[in-house]
Amino acid sequence: MMALCLAGCKDSARKFGELNALAGNTTDKGLSGHGFTEIYERFFYPLKYEPIKIFEIGIEWGGSLRLWEHYFPKASVYGIDIADMSSMDSKRIHTFVADQADRNQLKHFIRTYGNAYDIILDDGGHAMDQQQISFGFLFPYVKPGGYYIIEDVHSSLPDYYRDLGLDYHVKDDETNTTLRMIQNFVETKKIESQYLRPEETRYLNRHIEYAVLFAKNSKRHSMTCIFKKVNE
Ligand SMILES: C[S@@+](CC[C@H](N)C(=O)[O-])C[C@H]1O[C@@H](n2cnc3c(N)ncnc32)[C@H](O)[C@@H]1O
Repeated sequence: MMALCLAGCKDSARKFGELNALAGNTTDKGLSGHGFTEIYERFFYPLKYEPIKIFEIGIEWGGSLRLWEHYFPKASVYGIDIADMSSMDSKRIHTFVADQADRNQLKHFIRTYGNAYDIILDDGGHAMDQQQISFGFLFPYVKPGGYYIIEDVHSSLPDYYRDLGLDYHVKDDETNTTLRMIQNFVETKKIESQYLRPEETRYLNRHIEYAVLFAKNSKRHSMTCIFKKVNE
């Protein structure tokens, strides 16, 4: 495997692979699914033994919450879902019922569990409004130098939004897609989204250090986007 060293990895000779192995097929982030763990480990390794807070939108069967619990031995792991997943709660896993497109429900989560997360991942409903409202609302609650990740950005592509039944979320000219928001950032270094409030847009434009869009060359077209927050 080619040795890549990204995002503060000090040990360029290190062999990655633990996150892929732990993911197995318990979550579709692993190599048997979208292959996102391949790239995440390069960003997450420097945080591996830190007492971090990691928060994921979208729990389903809990595979990814358990993945974070195992990979980060000192982390506190938080998950929200529209379904009650409190059966998963444990010493280090905390679940909460909330709709990711509802700012009041997200605010309730933040008031309950705190406002500074090293990593936030969105693997929820994958609709355009859900992805962008959560991004705008939650980015202020990423710690300086932390990451906000929008997964399954391929839901912006026609084959996928039709498959996922999200067609009604996408305008005919596709100007409201999350992929378009990211492409626009790449081109202009500005976030623009019809779903965001002006103060959310301003905050994002001042606090995003960079965006990395990962697009896997596979039949599934899997895409995830990692936003790093400025470290100040
Ligand atoms: C792809 S699954 C999550 C998989 C999990 N992250 C994993 O990798 O093991 C998506 C989850 O998002 C939840 N979801 C859908 N719409 C949502 C919304 N508006 N707010 C919060 N969660 C939502 C679904 O109930 C489902 O459990």
